[in-house]
Amino acid sequence: MSHLANRLREGTQKSHTAAENTAFMKCFLKGIVETVPFRKLLANLYLVYSTLEEEFRRHQQHHIVGKLYFQELNRQQNLEQDLAFYYGENWRSEIVPLKAGQAYVDRLKEISNTDPALLIAHSYTRYMGDLSGGQALKHIVRSALDLPDEHGTTFYEFDQLPTLEAKRDFKDKYRQALDSLEVDEETVERIVEEANYAFTLNRNVVDELEADVRAVIDPHVFELLTKQDRVGSTERRGHPVTV
Ligand code: HEM
Repeated sequence: MSHLANRLREGTQKSHTAAENTAFMKCFLKGIVETVPFRKLLANLYLVYSTLEEEFRRHQQHHIVGKLYFQELNRQQNLEQDLAFYYGENWRSEIVPLKAGQAYVDRLKEISNTDPALLIAHSYTRYMGDLSGGQALKHIVRSALDLPDEHGTTFYEFDQLPTLEAKRDFKDKYRQALDSLEVDEETVERIVEEANYAFTLNRNVVDELEADVRAVIDPHVFELLTKQDRVGSTERRGHPVTV
């Protein structure tokens, strides 16, 4: 057994805390969500997930990557619905990658060609996050943007995992799949390192959106909202955490 699930959790705790403590996320968690930066975030996630999911399909027969391919996690189509909602029918011609979003996509393509096992790290970082903290973010977006029913947060919805319990069970199954991979210590270390890099790539995207958030908030309020750091959700004692 590789214990990869625990190695990933423990090996990325500091990165997780840093991701929660970006100015963008601190504002988000306090209910400050603005349409312009939020839709840009979704647009960049669309580019990232389209690439990640295409590369996972390409490597479905790979002895490691194939074991972590779960079609029920796929986000591409859900994001398409949200983008049509926020940008309108012509969303495809409206969305532009941020510099950080392009760098993220480029990294996925690069490892897919040179070292596909590392794609596992990116799947873990995004999907486990979406099934965990992402679920709390959904409620924040809905109330901040006062969204009409059924629109604007499809990204956070998993049709085949509709309840909290189904998500929890799936996360257990995902962790078991990680643990069952036949990977040596050197590969485990490289996957954990890549997961930390995946967190950095995510942080860079939201850091690039910070200016859009600042543009709509009073500087003093921005300072108040962002000055204090949170204790990271995966660093808190007394696991398991509930979202
Ligand atoms: C897990 C919250 C952002 C990736 C968790 C868990 C919580 C949480 C409570 C624990 C769930 C559990 O034990 O089942 C949050 C909050 C965020 C946030 C409030 C607000 C900003 C992020 C970001 C990423 C991320 C930006 C990556 C892009 C993950 C991953 C896990 C996780 C990979 C799984 C850890 C594991 O059990 O191995 N998050 N998160 N999170 N989160 Fe986040």
